[in-house]
Amino acid sequence: MEMKDKIAKIFLEKFGEPGGSFYASAGRINLIGEHTDYNEGYVFPGAIDKVIMAEIRANDNGIVRAFSIDINEYAEFGLNEKDAPAQSWARYIFGVCREIIKRGGNVQGFDTVFAGNIPLGAGLSSSAALESCFAFALNDLFNDNSIDKFELAKIGQSTEHNYCGVNCGIMDQFASVFGKKDHLMRLDCRDLQYEYFPFAPTHHKLVLVDSRVKHELKDSPYNKRRESCERVAKALGVPSLRDVSLAQLNASRISFSDEDYRRAKFVVEEKERVLEVCAALERGDYEEVGRKMYETHEGLSKDYEVSCEELDFLAGLARKCGVTGSRIMGGGFGGCTINLVPDNLCDQFIATAKRDFCEKYGHEPHIYDVIISDGARRID
Ligand code: GLA
Repeated sequence: MEMKDKIAKIFLEKFGEPGGSFYASAGRINLIGEHTDYNEGYVFPGAIDKVIMAEIRANDNGIVRAFSIDINEYAEFGLNEKDAPAQSWARYIFGVCREIIKRGGNVQGFDTVFAGNIPLGAGLSSSAALESCFAFALNDLFNDNSIDKFELAKIGQSTEHNYCGVNCGIMDQFASVFGKKDHLMRLDCRDLQYEYFPFAPTHHKLVLVDSRVKHELKDSPYNKRRESCERVAKALGVPSLRDVSLAQLNASRISFSDEDYRRAKFVVEEKERVLEVCAALERGDYEEVGRKMYETHEGLSKDYEVSCEELDFLAGLARKCGVTGSRIMGGGFGGCTINLVPDNLCDQFIATAKRDFCEKYGHEPHIYDVIISDGARRID
């Protein structure tokens, strides 16, 4: 059954009447620009064809009644700060409601049933999709769409900060809200200027190889990485690593711990790589795009230390198979590699990755084709 029909059926079972509106928002990939968003650098993401979809209808109880099909759990909560639900999935919805209210927006009680097909813990930002889906929906249902799209993304980001314990940047929510079919987006995370880049390569495919090693950013050292970056920026007397060049960083190297130095070095190099990849894409130079992806993997693995054995293995394997570019994607500590694969190598690469990974780690990785799609939307 289609996701929408399934949601409608369960909505009717749970709440007795049909008649809600449908909304969806997307997961994301990121071609390059990792851990640069909270350093006010550049990112280069795109929304994908995997979504969270919800049916929502206002009720007159002043409470939210929510059912998650995938987790098979029901939650009910009020809209005041003291009403925070216990279930972590429900806190995302609660957080979005609270962040809208804190900004002077309107949220009233509603009933909702939702589901998704974004693999959890794969680094594809299922949580940002959930936040963006509800932020978009509540803007439409209760605020006459008066909240602008950047604010919707920020509502999702603040939800992560204030209700989920992750001090994330803006990339995931931005991608989920602003995503456009067949386009990647270069976002300058300092002034939030962005540009769409057509992305429909004719001789390459983007393939995700999901190690199925799960990561939970809250318990992971994600926030610690951010603290390292902020420490270095502060020591150099600038607002963020955006303002730091490699020469400057090297000149002050003795002022930081070796660990902080390596974290900052990665970020400073990565923000340049985004610009280089955008320029290469405009020239159609996929070899250069791929080289930069491998460099990012090296940096994330050796300097930023957010990779893991399984993902290093997958990136190494891609290189051996002649894949143009490969790297760990997203926050790290598990999840996927993103691979830029020449069409004629695709089948062989996937078969080898499945076989060799399974031999070594006892389970096959999951493979997803990337289809760059639209972001948050109402579905009629
Ligand atoms: C997670 C965060 C993003 C970003 C990436 C790393 O996905 O939510 O804000 O920092 O990690 O690039």
